[in-house]
Amino acid sequence: MKDNLLLRTDFQDLKLFRRGKVRDVYDLGDKLLIVSTDRISCFDVILPSGIPEKGRVLTSISVFWFDFIKKLIGSHFITANVEEYPPELNKYKKILRGRSMLVLKTDPLPVECVVRGYLSGSGWKEYRQKQSVCSIRLPEGLRESGKLPEPIFTPSTKADVGHDENVDQAYVESLVGGKLAEELKRASIDIYRRASEYALGKGIIIADTKFEFGMLGGKMIIIDEVLTPDSSRFWPLEKYEPGRSQPSFDKQFVRDYLETLDWDKAPPAPELPAEIVSKTTDKYLDSYRKLTGKELE
Ligand SMILES: Nc1ncnc2c1ncn2[C@@H]1O[C@H](COP(=O)(O)OP(=O)(O)OP(=O)(O)O)[C@@H](O)[C@H]1O
Ligand SMILES: [Mg+2]
Repeated sequence: MKDNLLLRTDFQDLKLFRRGKVRDVYDLGDKLLIVSTDRISCFDVILPSGIPEKGRVLTSISVFWFDFIKKLIGSHFITANVEEYPPELNKYKKILRGRSMLVLKTDPLPVECVVRGYLSGSGWKEYRQKQSVCSIRLPEGLRESGKLPEPIFTPSTKADVGHDENVDQAYVESLVGGKLAEELKRASIDIYRRASEYALGKGIIIADTKFEFGMLGGKMIIIDEVLTPDSSRFWPLEKYEPGRSQPSFDKQFVRDYLETLDWDKAPPAPELPAEIVSKTTDKYLDSYRKLTGKELE
């Protein structure tokens, strides 16, 4: 079922919890409503153009993974079926269908739990200079986009403004205590291993990803979005070639197009041509299809 483009929600009678670059989150007391819009950001700037179907794809991918990892860890996920939403959301059903989920509100742990299986981005930059990634010593001779001998846990702090800052395990311990720090690392690597192995079999390399966890009733559960193209680097396996940077699964057309302009990557960003938008929609739909073996309904 094709969906209308949605760039922003403004549910005046609900309490806004947070408006991110892509998602609008509402506070329902002990629950949250997470709405994935069709906004897209590139080089950390939100573009004026939206990508039809993107919000539905991101939501459906997260829902798929919450189910996939449920034997490993509990999650905040309650339902993505609007018929099961609280009555106060009834009037927004049409907007919310397919692109939103109802979750348990937790006390988020202040750590971005990044796991890297391949050498890319800032990791590659640091490796070239110091043969380490986030101070984790690595063997010599690794190539750009090369697979690491083992997935590594490279946490960062959540910065409210600006970029997240990489921190070491000792710092995570100082934030959440030794036991939870260890649990964050173990759970993150474990989830990454299982999910990336599965995705590889479907033709997608998950080069790295970021998880968030929260506490609820004394238990640590996984929150936020999981293993989506927005929280991870997805690379098409068929185009994988270490020794260079890899095309990204979803945003490559957008990045390539923006690089042809002499835009300085500061807001405001330019509009995208219709052809770039529709090719990008196709890429998002393709990532869902590849991962799940199903068409997005
Ligand atoms: N179950 C939950 N309980 C409490 N907080 C949650 C839960 N799930 C997600 N969150 C929080 O909701 C917020 C969602 O924000 P969102 O990711 O959309 O924007 P952002 O992180 O501020 O920016 P960006 O768009 O760059 O990711 C995050 O701060 C996340 O930690
Ligand atoms: Mg976020």
